[in-house]
Amino acid sequence: MFWKQIMNWITNDVAIDLGTANTLVYLKGHGIVVDEPSVVALETETKKVIAVGNKAKEMLGKTPEEIKAIKPMKDGVIANFEVTETMLRHLILLSQQKKFLIRPRVIVAVPSGITEVEKRAVKESAEHAGARKVYLVSEPLASAIGVGLPVHEPYGNMLIDIGGGTTEIAIISLSHIVDHNSIRIGGDEMDEDIVSFLRKKHNLFIGESTAERIKIKIGSAYPLPNELTMEVRGRDLVSGFPISMKISSEEIREALSETVSTIVDAIKRLFEETAPELSADIADRGVVLTGGAGQLKGLDQKIRETIDLPVTLVEHPLTCVVMGSGKILDNLEEYQKILLPNI
Ligand SMILES: Nc1ncnc2c1ncn2[C@@H]1O[C@H](COP(=O)(O)OP(=O)(O)OP(=O)(O)O)[C@@H](O)[C@H]1O
Ligand SMILES: [Mg+2]
Repeated sequence: MFWKQIMNWITNDVAIDLGTANTLVYLKGHGIVVDEPSVVALETETKKVIAVGNKAKEMLGKTPEEIKAIKPMKDGVIANFEVTETMLRHLILLSQQKKFLIRPRVIVAVPSGITEVEKRAVKESAEHAGARKVYLVSEPLASAIGVGLPVHEPYGNMLIDIGGGTTEIAIISLSHIVDHNSIRIGGDEMDEDIVSFLRKKHNLFIGESTAERIKIKIGSAYPLPNELTMEVRGRDLVSGFPISMKISSEEIREALSETVSTIVDAIKRLFEETAPELSADIADRGVVLTGGAGQLKGLDQKIRETIDLPVTLVEHPLTCVVMGSGKILDNLEEYQKILLPNI
């Protein structure tokens, strides 16, 4: 007990939501201390880090040849090992208040559909970034704990987390994921949909950051009570000159319709395959919607209409995973059985 208290005093254990779009760090006993986009800017030749997080994201699509702004995560998993490690090291260091007396234990939330090889990559990446011990937890379970769902009970809870690179649909009972469907589609695809739609329909060439702004401002999955418009600046592919064009929310809904359908179909399929006792519980309590892209206007309504169940978008959809991982870290013994088996 005494030893534990000393360890608590000299270490800074952290829980990390290593997301495709955003990485958040929870410091044991403190709460969220880092919340940054998963982007790193490096000098092309020397690989020296110039910026991590918000500052690096601002550089996306605007860098000269000497600098590269990189998103090291794709579809929920590591796409660039070296840069992920650099990013993690930087963000873990940023979270440490009593500087590394003893290296921290780290919990990392990972997609439920992750392969063994991908799990090992996350583990090694966190170890190289300075972790003494790495535990992995499944994102939807962490998210459910973050939201405060009664995961320990013999009761079916359905949670949908739509992030930048993945959509996780999970049915949870007795501290386990009973059924899940994890598809590598999320907010990033929506941005790509908008880029290619505007290119095809209006010969308008825009970058992904602009597409993300359009998605957040006027994107929707369901007809809006008051449809919206937005002035969009880009390059005219015919003349090559910069132009400005008014784009409507109806057009953007059309651009997003295929990705939205893929997500909604995956939800419907999992619900239809669920054991009757669990689906009766879910019908009782409804479905919980989390993740940044879960905030797409009208997406909750679209899901509600398709599966004919109540759907609730949580109050803080971007922080559930890290808050849940943090809760696990704060009560590691209680939640031991929730962690993924060691790899
Ligand atoms: N208001 C909004 N409407 C629609 N999409 C949004 C909104 N706010 C944020 N997003 C999108 O949410 C996504 C980021 O969500 P989140 O931080 O949950 O993803 P992540 O955890 O990094 O990714 P993943 O879990 O897939 O690895 C981005 O694609 C972002 O554009
Ligand atoms: Mg996520």
